[in-house]
Amino acid sequence: MDALVSLSKRRGFIFQSSEIYGGTGSCWDYGPVGIELKQNIKRVWWRDYIQRRPDMMGLDASILMHPTVWKASGHVDHFTDPMVDCLECRRRFRADKVDETPWVHYCPATKGNKFTIPAGEPCRHCGVSRTLCPECGKGELTPPRQFNLMFKTFMGPVEEDASLTYLRPETAQGIFVNFDNVLQSMRRKLPFGIGQIGKAFRNEITPGNFIFRTREFEQMEIEYFVNPLETVEGRPADEYWHERWIEDSMAWFRRYGLSEENLRLREHEADELAHYAKRTADIEYRFPIGWSELMGIANRTDFDLKQHAKFSGKTLTYFDEERKEHVVPYVIEPSAGVDRALLAFLADAYREEEVRGEKRVVLRFHPELAPLKVAVLPLLKKREDIVRTAHAIRDELSKEWTVVYDDTAAIGRLYRRQDEVGTPYCVTVDVQTVGDQAKGEVGDGKVTIRDRDSMEQIRVPLTALGSVFRELLGGGAWASVASRFERKGEG
Ligand code: GAP
Repeated sequence: MDALVSLSKRRGFIFQSSEIYGGTGSCWDYGPVGIELKQNIKRVWWRDYIQRRPDMMGLDASILMHPTVWKASGHVDHFTDPMVDCLECRRRFRADKVDETPWVHYCPATKGNKFTIPAGEPCRHCGVSRTLCPECGKGELTPPRQFNLMFKTFMGPVEEDASLTYLRPETAQGIFVNFDNVLQSMRRKLPFGIGQIGKAFRNEITPGNFIFRTREFEQMEIEYFVNPLETVEGRPADEYWHERWIEDSMAWFRRYGLSEENLRLREHEADELAHYAKRTADIEYRFPIGWSELMGIANRTDFDLKQHAKFSGKTLTYFDEERKEHVVPYVIEPSAGVDRALLAFLADAYREEEVRGEKRVVLRFHPELAPLKVAVLPLLKKREDIVRTAHAIRDELSKEWTVVYDDTAAIGRLYRRQDEVGTPYCVTVDVQTVGDQAKGEVGDGKVTIRDRDSMEQIRVPLTALGSVFRELLGGGAWASVASRFERKGEG
């Protein structure tokens, strides 16, 4: 994790929010490279799930909603975590997580020496287990109290109870309250889904582990409405579609580069199921902090639509033409965090390799996710014709892709820099490309393309650059493209 945090800062992926004021500890800012990666994740998600599927539609609901939404959804009463405070240092912990962190101990068997003991283990010297504050090792902890995780704010200029509202803790409710609007305006038949990408806010008691748990984050959520009276392939429609969404979501993360061995499915036990859920399965990823939730796929039954119908007094049903009756649809909810997905893609792509006796750090991003697609590098920055050609290539390619120009170091260094941000291809313009007028030499009009993963290089005519990158960045294999061009050694 330390390597990822340091690389992220050094190479413009992620910075701590308000760093010049000491930072906030729970909020992060995406830099020029990080925002490209984040946008790419959201773009492929939207394209795969909203644009390409005939049964899906998009939505962008507001973050501030009517406060009764959160009464109806159960968040005002149930969206809480148990919290304990240290009476000495005043730090706060989630009561259910306090034994999952290493703890500080002043051991009486060693004249009060200070030790930091691994989470959940007793002291090797005196044998006692943790009872005091794990951070300061001195204070008693208070009994657990329930703490609501929603951020409160006031709508309008008067700070009074009547104008109290909340920053949404999930994007889902914006979809439920618009169910009838979408149904009526888009004239849909069940099953259909509504997807949304947007910010959510939770006043987490213990945020941390970089962007894994933050107080402000983004979600990519789908509410997929199914007819509970129907069966599909001999199973109730909600159970059938739940299974389909679990498989689909797993396949999606694999398609964009997460390794099989770092992904697993975890079913929620009956006693951990949310009050609205019939079944929930989490996709877990082996993050640098261990196996943890990447996304959840829940069968929320008809709970949300019924609650909103009850609290709003509006009918939120679907008319089943075949059976001539009104039904409240069941909902399958695949819900992923954008930031958590980004952390998983970053961790999975990260490699430290040895190349010709030197360490190479490379991010092997899927080409569709790679923040920068091509870097154009002039071999000699003093040669005006080389620099001009390189700029012209960048300008042309950037009509279709995110492309950068860099001439601030020697070529080997420039390649390593691009490896570190995961740029799949570099284009180098050299003397051979433009020739040498003084010597009366004419250029061959070819540039070198270098592949990030194999480090192989090929010579490609300038006129073919567009079509070659369309093929490579559109999923074409390097080996097949490279076989058609003149090879050059590794770069
Ligand atoms: N609407 C259902 C829902 O919000 P959730 O499991 O609480 O379910 C869904 O959240 C996803 O949102 C999680 O799997 C995770 O990827 C992301 N997420 C939740 N809390 C987060 C936090 N504090 N920081 C970053 N991501 C978070």
